[in-house]
Amino acid sequence: MIDCLNKDLENGNVVRLFTLETPHTSYILGLLGEDQLVHVYYGKKIRAPKSFDPWKKLPLFYLGQSPHRDDVPGFQEVTPYDFSTFGAPDLRLPTLHLRYADGVSAARFAYKEHKIYGGKPKLKGLPATYAETDDEAQTLEIVLADELHDARVTLLYTVFARHDAIIRSMRVENTGSEPFTIERVMSATVDFVGAGSSYDFVHLDGAWGRERRIVRKPLGNGLQEVFSRRGLSSFQHNPFFALMEKNADELHGRVYGFNLVYSGNFTAGCEADAIENVRAYIGLGDFNFSWRLESGEIFQTPEAVLVFSDEGLSGMSRVYHKLYRTRLCRGRWRDAERYALINNWEGTQFTFDEQRIVAIAEKGKEIGLDLFVLDDGWFKGRNNDKSSLGDWIADETKLPHGVKGLAERIEALGMKFGLWFEPEMVSPDSDLYLAHPDWAMHVNGMKASLGRNQLMLDLTRGDVCDHIVKSLSDILSDAPVSYVKWDCNRCFSEAASDLLPPERMGEFAHRYVLGLYRILETLTSRFPDVLFEGCSSGGGRFDGGILYYMPQIWTSDCTDAVERFAIEYGTSVVYPFNTMGSHVSAVPNQQTGRTVSMKSRGDAAMPGQFGFELDAAAMSDEEIKSAKMCLDRYRQFGELMHKADLYRLSSPFEGNDAVLEFVCEDGETVLLLTEKRFCELSAVGKRVRLAGLDPNADYEIVFADKPGYKGLLYGGDELTENGMFFQGGRDGDTALFVFQKRPAPEKE
Ligand code: GLA
Repeated sequence: MIDCLNKDLENGNVVRLFTLETPHTSYILGLLGEDQLVHVYYGKKIRAPKSFDPWKKLPLFYLGQSPHRDDVPGFQEVTPYDFSTFGAPDLRLPTLHLRYADGVSAARFAYKEHKIYGGKPKLKGLPATYAETDDEAQTLEIVLADELHDARVTLLYTVFARHDAIIRSMRVENTGSEPFTIERVMSATVDFVGAGSSYDFVHLDGAWGRERRIVRKPLGNGLQEVFSRRGLSSFQHNPFFALMEKNADELHGRVYGFNLVYSGNFTAGCEADAIENVRAYIGLGDFNFSWRLESGEIFQTPEAVLVFSDEGLSGMSRVYHKLYRTRLCRGRWRDAERYALINNWEGTQFTFDEQRIVAIAEKGKEIGLDLFVLDDGWFKGRNNDKSSLGDWIADETKLPHGVKGLAERIEALGMKFGLWFEPEMVSPDSDLYLAHPDWAMHVNGMKASLGRNQLMLDLTRGDVCDHIVKSLSDILSDAPVSYVKWDCNRCFSEAASDLLPPERMGEFAHRYVLGLYRILETLTSRFPDVLFEGCSSGGGRFDGGILYYMPQIWTSDCTDAVERFAIEYGTSVVYPFNTMGSHVSAVPNQQTGRTVSMKSRGDAAMPGQFGFELDAAAMSDEEIKSAKMCLDRYRQFGELMHKADLYRLSSPFEGNDAVLEFVCEDGETVLLLTEKRFCELSAVGKRVRLAGLDPNADYEIVFADKPGYKGLLYGGDELTENGMFFQGGRDGDTALFVFQKRPAPEKE
């Protein structure tokens, strides 16, 4: 619900309050001095303020001014804004920073008008959460203008009736006759007053094979920032951070989450000053960014999804999960159970032919899998990673009957067929590069840097995007391809385009992402039945932008069960398990050399989108039997986890046990999945306290991997307060416990 309240002040002024409500949170804005948009409150749902005299309810003094003088309005240094510019006179990092034609960058925007309407508008060319009907969501648009320089901004705020999220973005419009340049544009900024030392800053950082580790540190004064300058949202930081109150943990306390629905360069963080004011910001990467806006042009930012929870970090995650699962992911595959698949990459790498592939698929069929994915190496001359990207036609020596012939053979086995592409790339050793060297990202006269021996295509160019759409469409229309793995194995360098004029070169990174989104929109709407899975050397581009087009993403190239469990654990801070591609691979593990039992490897993959990534033709009968057992467990329990409420109970980043609890939608079934990272000798059992249970109901263990547990009955209150114990195991050993809710017997 969004409301606009007009309040008459004693001094004759009128103040407006905009109250945005979600089921459990309130977000309140106000107009200060008639035209300055200030931030009043964000947090647990409250009633609208009874009185609102901004001079009394907002902080009054600034450094150097006596706190005894309460008749003097505060300097903007301490005013909490919801929209800010630089230098007139606020000096913090602003929401919007423009450079006008006269060279001036100080800007003062004043409130002009607003409207409130049902539904949520689409963001042109950008991925975004959506409402299926107008009564699911409400949107507030506030228009502000800098009349001196003829610039207008429209701030968009959407609330959903059923999700505790505030969705924000902004449009910037040039209403004058002279062009101007956007030098920084955030999708959202929120000012928290006098609170710096009570927060910790939480973010997800990582690297290849080590994605999205949860990092928590005190929010000190100065800047605390996460970012990408790599062109992709990146391994290094996810476009996400949270502010957690000091006493908050996974299950309790106040947490504010900020996530950008975007796949490229981003800037996100907090500026905290000496008087403990915190400005949180998230938006497009501001380094090396500029965007020229001609007269009449409009710039739309990506959207930021803000989530407040007073149920700890897991509480925040549950809001993101439900929203992204149901109102960010789209299409036929959004709600459907996806293919359990087998992929040949770790099994064969580049060394295969049609016979070997069919042999692997046959074993996959025997295990009971739905789909076979042919990974890298299937196209013209691709025998290692040094050539051929861009030449998307089958290699005749490996696949004499082409993609179509192979796909038909796989279909004849009763399986679906999937194919790997890396469409944004070109190898210098390829027909495509020979024909169009200028299609690769390059700076004229400068040596191009290779990454994995390849170059990136210049997706700011329409002709390059059209070519990618055509070459993939040709294959997808010709052969029965039911799944596409969309890879992207390097990041930007020499990021420039022959077609961009000098004054627009700062637009390159964002234009690249817009080009990618146009390609993905075209292909996914042209082939709505194909299941697309994103990938970027594993999880190097795991973000909400990709999920809008492809409902699942290969979470990491690290398939070692111990490391992978931690990667999934960290990824789940924002992204739901049903978006995470997770496969069982062979042992010793190719990345870490560790050997973990097939059952535990299966369990580590179970909560995600399940599959195998190995040479099934080389498996023994015993291994095939275990693989079948893993698939059965996935079908019985893993699929339940996809839509369940998640509680992270014990972190692999803080201790030796990783524990996840899934409470199914109906509240009747609860699954507890544990993993012992490393075997501990003479260790006492691990006590784990469950959450999200009905304290008045009983819970019976109806399935347990460990002996002696089945049939045990616990009170919901007992499990919450006293918890349960389980004993250790070997490296990477997992255990699953399934509880069924039972009505507690009547008291005598
Ligand atoms: C990337 C992917 C892998 C695999 C290889 C193929 O590393 O993440 O899953 O597809 O490329 O070259």
